[in-house]
Amino acid sequence: MQNNRSAADVCRFVIVGGAGFIGSHFTDVLLADEATKAVTIYDNFSSGHDWHIAHHHKDARFRVVNAEIADLDCLRETLSGHQVVIHLASNPDIAAAVHDPDIDFREGTVLSRNVLEAMRQSDCHRILYASGSGVYGDFGTTEVIEDQPGMRPVSTYGASKYASEHLISAYCYMFGLSACCFRFGNVVGPRQTHGVGFDFLRKLREDPTQLEILGDGKQSKSYIHVEDTVAAVLTAHRGASEDFNVFNVATGDYITVTEIADLAVAALGLDKTQVEYVYSGGDRGWKGDVPVIRLSTDRIKALGWSCENSTKQALTRSLVALLDDLEQEAS
Ligand SMILES: NC(=O)c1ccc[n+]([C@@H]2O[C@H](COP(=O)([O-])OP(=O)(O)OC[C@H]3O[C@@H](n4cnc5c(N)ncnc54)[C@H](O)[C@@H]3O)[C@@H](O)[C@H]2O)c1
Repeated sequence: MQNNRSAADVCRFVIVGGAGFIGSHFTDVLLADEATKAVTIYDNFSSGHDWHIAHHHKDARFRVVNAEIADLDCLRETLSGHQVVIHLASNPDIAAAVHDPDIDFREGTVLSRNVLEAMRQSDCHRILYASGSGVYGDFGTTEVIEDQPGMRPVSTYGASKYASEHLISAYCYMFGLSACCFRFGNVVGPRQTHGVGFDFLRKLREDPTQLEILGDGKQSKSYIHVEDTVAAVLTAHRGASEDFNVFNVATGDYITVTEIADLAVAALGLDKTQVEYVYSGGDRGWKGDVPVIRLSTDRIKALGWSCENSTKQALTRSLVALLDDLEQEAS
């Protein structure tokens, strides 16, 4: 099925989870575009922060609704008059299910179901959804394509993303929505509040003599800058022609966790020979982790997107920016 959106249809956005790391960058990019008529953030500030978005409060096109996704009436009213939902809300701690097995269902799949139901009941019928590479499970060094046979999530986080994608697909077919789902690699950049590079900086600032590293440090993944991520989503949003679309979004190159530790040590200006790396052992950080991830990005590139920052550039830039964030937080 094709969708027939015109450019004039796509200027009023609701960002569900917009006060978070990635959402705040969507807000920056969308409001920098004069064609954007409205950006409304819907967020309960559980992991989002006002300082992520405070620089937009004076923009008449910008509004913040501080509310729960569970409040369907409020969400439906908020969606009224908008054309596009960027859905980013979920549990940010991907390993939390080890101690709270229900968390990714409650704060993942159920949130997506509520967003879709509010959309069905409103006139806002386009969704851009932040899924993740966890949907694939463990394919080792095989470069996975979006229609990869044999996908089998190995974490409840990945399962909740895959379940959300399936719900979105069904709502598109049954209720006339249209969608792009994005399976991001690890996203890095300013205002990040979680992730391996962020954790290393925090730990090293507390103790510059030693760094605990989960697993054996050989886990190898792509880290994409948030600017490239936002550009990929908006490129697909404007160029994808099917009612339901799925895209991998990653850099195409990879780095190990030990190499990230080296970058964090360098960003802090520490002498590497004076920092002891203490590995927790095993080939992965936690039970549902996938130690090696390779994502094919041919599909999104065919729409004209290209990744400006390599993994190393993305991480180096983000570590510098995160140090600034941490210093401002401390002052
Ligand atoms: N950061 C990454 O590396 C990465 C990689 C792949 C996928 N993703 C996905 O992208 C999305 C955004 O990630 P992020 O890093 O910006 O996370 P984030 O935690 O910074 O942002 C999520 C936002 O959702 C809000 N939220 C959560 N539950 C809510 C609820 N019940 N009601 C209203 N608001 C709620 C939070 O307050 C927060 O502002 C997430 O779904 C995440 O799983 C992120």
